[in-house]
Amino acid sequence: MESPFKPDILKGKVALLTGGGSGIGFEIATQFGKHGASVAIMGRRKQVLDSAVSTLQSQGIRVIGLEGDVRKKEDAMRVIESTIKHFGRLDILVNAAAGNFLVNAEDLSPNGFRTVMDIDSVGTFTMCHEALKYLKKGGPGRGPSSGGTILNISATLHYTASWYQIHVSAAKAAVDSITRSLALEWGTDYDIRVNGIAPGPIGDTAGMSKLAPEEIGKKREEYMPLYKLGEKWDIAMAAVYLASDAGKYINGTTLIVDGGLWLSRPRHIPKEAVKQLSRVVERRSRDAPAGLPTSKL
Ligand code: COA
Repeated sequence: MESPFKPDILKGKVALLTGGGSGIGFEIATQFGKHGASVAIMGRRKQVLDSAVSTLQSQGIRVIGLEGDVRKKEDAMRVIESTIKHFGRLDILVNAAAGNFLVNAEDLSPNGFRTVMDIDSVGTFTMCHEALKYLKKGGPGRGPSSGGTILNISATLHYTASWYQIHVSAAKAAVDSITRSLALEWGTDYDIRVNGIAPGPIGDTAGMSKLAPEEIGKKREEYMPLYKLGEKWDIAMAAVYLASDAGKYINGTTLIVDGGLWLSRPRHIPKEAVKQLSRVVERRSRDAPAGLPTSKL
């Protein structure tokens, strides 16, 4: 799909994306590149990174691939330094690296829980922390006029509670909290905007095939009217919006991009029955003697 944004909306910007070699991170890298940014993508798997880099290069995007694990502080430091060495500055940090698997809470080991917290929450904080000196207003490579921006990829799992996702729900709740705290502290002190994006189920991603195999998706469609898959493009457009000057007054928010899915509930009464039923109940309660519950009428 064609972007509704001008192709130079991110011209001159440098973005670093963790988890940028595949899935949503890769699509954001692609769209940032198509809108004029230079991109550094970070990931654990060399092969995945190499193939992502050559795909991006074939589209004329300036890109480097940097191997690293967000769980390791030395990797975070090295990747950020390499980005600066290569492109001279850093404007946008996207924390898209994440770990996930379905598991009953009772079958999840504390180490399994910790692993996802380490990748999603601690990894996000580590990357932000190490990138701070380059993102702050007046930092190396940037002028005194403005700071950079951070985007944290989150989820909607923890808004209510999600089956078999105790570790990821906890990790993303922490990510949202990090987003707000940094927006407050670094927005005030360093002119850095910090926002998040909470994607719903996005087709053609590792998350989707791991967490909601096709059969489950079909079943949900039957009782959730809003149930439909999003596209990676939807998330990338939200990222372009938030990272560009179009979002210059947005700080500390996590934008839900799920088509309204998290609000969905199965209907408990058919639509046709509501009006009639509600009138009857009202009439009964009007005619009822005071204090008598309507259920007794
Ligand atoms: N069910 C239950 N526990 C699991 C599990 C599963 N499916 N997969 C891993 N674990 C547990 C392991 O048993 C281990 O705990 P233990 O030492 O108590 O046995 C712990 O998690 C760490 O597993 P390990 O395989 O060593 O971690 P890893 O660093 O190699 O992998 C994951 C990290 C598990 C998060 C892996 O799924 C991953 O890297 N995913 C990245 C890609 C991804 O998931 N993307 C989707 C984003 S939505």
